[in-house]
Amino acid sequence: MCGIVGYIGRQEAQSILLDGLKKLEYRGYDSAGLAVYNGETIGVKKKEGRIVNVESLLEEQSLLGSVGIAHTRWATHGKPSDRNSHPHMDHEDKFAIVHNGIIENFLELKEELQAKGHTFRSETDTEVIAHLLADAYNGDVVETVQHIVKKMEGAYALAIMSEYEPDKLVAVRLASPLIIGVGEGENFIASDIPAILKHTREMVILEDGEMAVLTDDQIQVMTTEGEKIDREPLHVDWDIVTAEKDGYDHFMLKEIYEQPKAIRDTLTGRIKEGIVDLASELTLSQAEMEQIDRIHFVACGTAYHAGIVGKYALEQLTRIPVEVDVASEYRYRDPIITERTLVIVISQSGETADTLAAMREAQSRGAKVLAITNVVGSTIARDADEVLITSAGPEIAVASTKAYTSQLVVIYQLGLYLAHIRATQPRTEIEKMVEELLSLPLKIEEALKGADILKMLATELARHNNLFFIGRGLDFAVALEGSLKLKELTYIHSEAYPAGELKHGTLALIEEGVPVISLATQAFTYDKMVSNIEEVKTRGAHVLGITTAGSVDLQRTADEVITVPQTLPLFSPVLTVIPLQLLSYYACIARGFDVDKPRNLAKSVTVE
Ligand code: F6R
Repeated sequence: MCGIVGYIGRQEAQSILLDGLKKLEYRGYDSAGLAVYNGETIGVKKKEGRIVNVESLLEEQSLLGSVGIAHTRWATHGKPSDRNSHPHMDHEDKFAIVHNGIIENFLELKEELQAKGHTFRSETDTEVIAHLLADAYNGDVVETVQHIVKKMEGAYALAIMSEYEPDKLVAVRLASPLIIGVGEGENFIASDIPAILKHTREMVILEDGEMAVLTDDQIQVMTTEGEKIDREPLHVDWDIVTAEKDGYDHFMLKEIYEQPKAIRDTLTGRIKEGIVDLASELTLSQAEMEQIDRIHFVACGTAYHAGIVGKYALEQLTRIPVEVDVASEYRYRDPIITERTLVIVISQSGETADTLAAMREAQSRGAKVLAITNVVGSTIARDADEVLITSAGPEIAVASTKAYTSQLVVIYQLGLYLAHIRATQPRTEIEKMVEELLSLPLKIEEALKGADILKMLATELARHNNLFFIGRGLDFAVALEGSLKLKELTYIHSEAYPAGELKHGTLALIEEGVPVISLATQAFTYDKMVSNIEEVKTRGAHVLGITTAGSVDLQRTADEVITVPQTLPLFSPVLTVIPLQLLSYYACIARGFDVDKPRNLAKSVTVE
């Protein structure tokens, strides 16, 4: 989720590159850097923090030249720091590269290169690419790039320049977006349209396994095997605001649709030989993991709802007793914590004051704290004992969507990892679950196809001032999240209830026409759930059922039914939450409210 800009032409590259980076900064980044060829060598300036930091460096000494590449980094591997910032160069400073994505086999490649005498300057996976290029250079940069990509496993969008052939830039893409901007006497590379929209509206979109070679007056697109491709540029007529949202009307919708990618990225690099392996990310020893005798999930809002799913997941997979707490309550309830307690704090931003305070309380009582967060350089990430990153990329809409599903996936990964270490699940079962986990991105894509029907249903829903979500077990956990999403976006009063609990009081509120969104995906409680739906229907409720494909009883009982693809019951929250997110989004539009900035709310809550 980093940003790339490249320029080759007749103007000074520095200002074009800086301006491009700034167009991407609204997403929030933690370091930035530029490389420009000055006629003799490649100069690099890079700095941790916001773009102004590198801009100050450039005020002291500019990078002169008309060929360059630049990058803003959203750290996922290797903490934000000057030396981990891009561009990266080989040990002889002949190649400069910027990279989005993850090179999964970088350790192996790094060892090979170190054995050949290459010295490394950063902790990143990216640097290995610059060294690979230097090592393999045969007098032809394009051929060298084609040769080294064969060795790289993972995902990459790359912009490459070389002192050997300074009249060209090379762009390569695999599983990470990259576009080429077509200018007159100048050409551009960018990871995102806003970065270059000011200069051109003609864009060539690279597909996976493709590369482009740019000079100031030519663009050659080809496969990484060298097969030439004729591709007409696409005319982009978006304004800059639309471009920032990738053409979506709102950041929230963009982020809902980014979930398959967020989950893929979160899974990347953590599955080895068919099982989850977090050994390179966690410092907990095998003995420490075996000794954990209770787990506390602590978080706020949507992240707290992820923690509730976490209780079901970790108890089922590891048989360790799990409690879930709202962070603002945790430190005041005198929780029972020992050295064998693992406290897991979940926070998208990593800055939520309540979560941070709860974390410090747990640490002061001797617990190990593991943070699940989306921001590598955040306070929570820095101060926790252990960190597992969600690779959802920057989340801008106040209402959390892709962070939640990514948090669920990290929780499942942790559960499966602990289950393997503690031998609480047979390896064959773990392998089956991992396979299912890997299929979730495609299943989310499938679930997103229901958007048109949900739009219609949401318009109807938006007329009400009161509604209910019900479910049992994990469906109840998702009902809580669906209800929160609806409240914060539409200002409709809604409540989530365990379906069996309604009859103990709240059923009195069900009357003619009240919408009840009923989740029924858990085979174990399915029949009971159908009876609970009958209970509310008899009292006049209008029922929207959410279930998995093929559930016949619900089709007969509910007024409308939305189906999501089948998966293991444990993983169903990742799919059932999708229609609920879309429902809230479209109901918000129908009521005419601000989707990305709901009233009274802030993205990062830094007060207790
Ligand atoms: C709701 C939402 C909030 C956050 C909560 C915690 O859509 O986004 O409920 O989940 O404020 O924020 P983080 O995860 O940043 O600690």
